[in-house]
Amino acid sequence: KFSVVIAGGGSTYTPEIILMLLDNLDRLPLRAIKLYDNDEERQGRLAEACGIIVKEKDPNIEFTATTDPETAYTDVDFCLAHIRVGQLPMREKDEKIPLKYGVVGQETCGPGGIAYGMRSIPGVLENIEYMEKYSPNCWMLNYSNPAAIVAEACRRFKPNARVINICDMPIGMENNIAKILGFNDRKEMTVRYFGLNHFGWWTSIKDKDGNEYIDKLLEHQLKYGNTLPDEGNNGDYTDNSWYETAKKVKDLTALDPTMAPNSYFQYYLFGDDMVAHTNPEYTRANQVMDGREKRVFGECARIAEAGTAEGTSLEIGIHASFIVDLATALAFNTHERMLLIVRNNGAIENFDKDAMVEIPCIVGKDGYEPITIGTIPTFQKGLMEEQVAVEKLTVDAYEQGSYHKLWQALTLSKTVPSANVAKKILDDYIEANKEYWPEL
Ligand code: G6P
Ligand code: MN
Repeated sequence: KFSVVIAGGGSTYTPEIILMLLDNLDRLPLRAIKLYDNDEERQGRLAEACGIIVKEKDPNIEFTATTDPETAYTDVDFCLAHIRVGQLPMREKDEKIPLKYGVVGQETCGPGGIAYGMRSIPGVLENIEYMEKYSPNCWMLNYSNPAAIVAEACRRFKPNARVINICDMPIGMENNIAKILGFNDRKEMTVRYFGLNHFGWWTSIKDKDGNEYIDKLLEHQLKYGNTLPDEGNNGDYTDNSWYETAKKVKDLTALDPTMAPNSYFQYYLFGDDMVAHTNPEYTRANQVMDGREKRVFGECARIAEAGTAEGTSLEIGIHASFIVDLATALAFNTHERMLLIVRNNGAIENFDKDAMVEIPCIVGKDGYEPITIGTIPTFQKGLMEEQVAVEKLTVDAYEQGSYHKLWQALTLSKTVPSANVAKKILDDYIEANKEYWPEL
């Protein structure tokens, strides 16, 4: 039986991830679940309810919530890391500052991701160090954002660490693809995909007999995007959550009808539309704080008060079951094929060996083995080269405390129109991130 620690225990996602873990005990049997966060008060508001949920499911699973790294990281097999340095109020700033200048305001794409990356790097590195110190055989399954920049920092500063960087975005889209193509489950599909995190394309979708479905998918997406026809395509992007904006995949597919894009390209390639549909005074961070955060914290308070989780409105975070897939693959050598963010190392032949790319890998007990992609076309290569430079410059800026490197990163981002605008955004971000960023 395994012991897991959830780093970022105070996340709004934590209770639903715990429910998901408890729902998968037949695949991944657990002896301990620990929550770890550096914000005792916030984590505390979820912990009591989580303890009740765990106890009611299986009283033999030991439950702990702690702010002490040694307690958190001692005797653990898996660390599920989803930390958010600066929490949602800083996400709000990441999003609102660029919008002041008419630039995309998103937590991982464009300036917001760069700002968030500068905050996340030290937090993730610190957690890796605790893990290495207290449980050197533990695997960190890291989905802390912004995953692309965090992964580049892991490659550079912790090249041998037992960290696997993964994102749920392609999985969310594959759930839609499966529905579009008439599969019962996305796991019936074998996909080829390449790119960077939040920045990639599907080039093949096959069924178990090897029949190819990509053309059928592209044809569908040219009409409806990454949604079913009855989900409509009314161009209402005001929600700004990725699943709402999956409709924009229609326009993205029109731009290159040879492969199926990740919907996050809307921020890079149709940034003007996204800005036009975003309220600069009320962004996704506000929606999350007023919606998911209130709902989850409210329900956890109710459970703690009632002393039972019976009849809870909290749902199993099925979208997060990829974490169990990954842990199971590592624990039981299942050789499951999964999209991971890994060092390119020649998998994409005509692309930087030292770039962190998102590609299919086979996962087993010693880690992962990437699948070869071959050469990629000029449009995709051009976009990826620009974006990977943004990610690398951000990590350079963090490493060297360099104002210029960060200004260059912002200037190079496809979402930013000029060095002029980049500088304004940068200067506002420096002011907003005084507590978090190294001095530039
Ligand atoms: C997807 C992405 C995550 C991102 C999340 C944002 O799941 O893969 O990287 O954090 O969307 O969702 P939210 O509801 O917080 O806007
Ligand atoms: Mn993601």
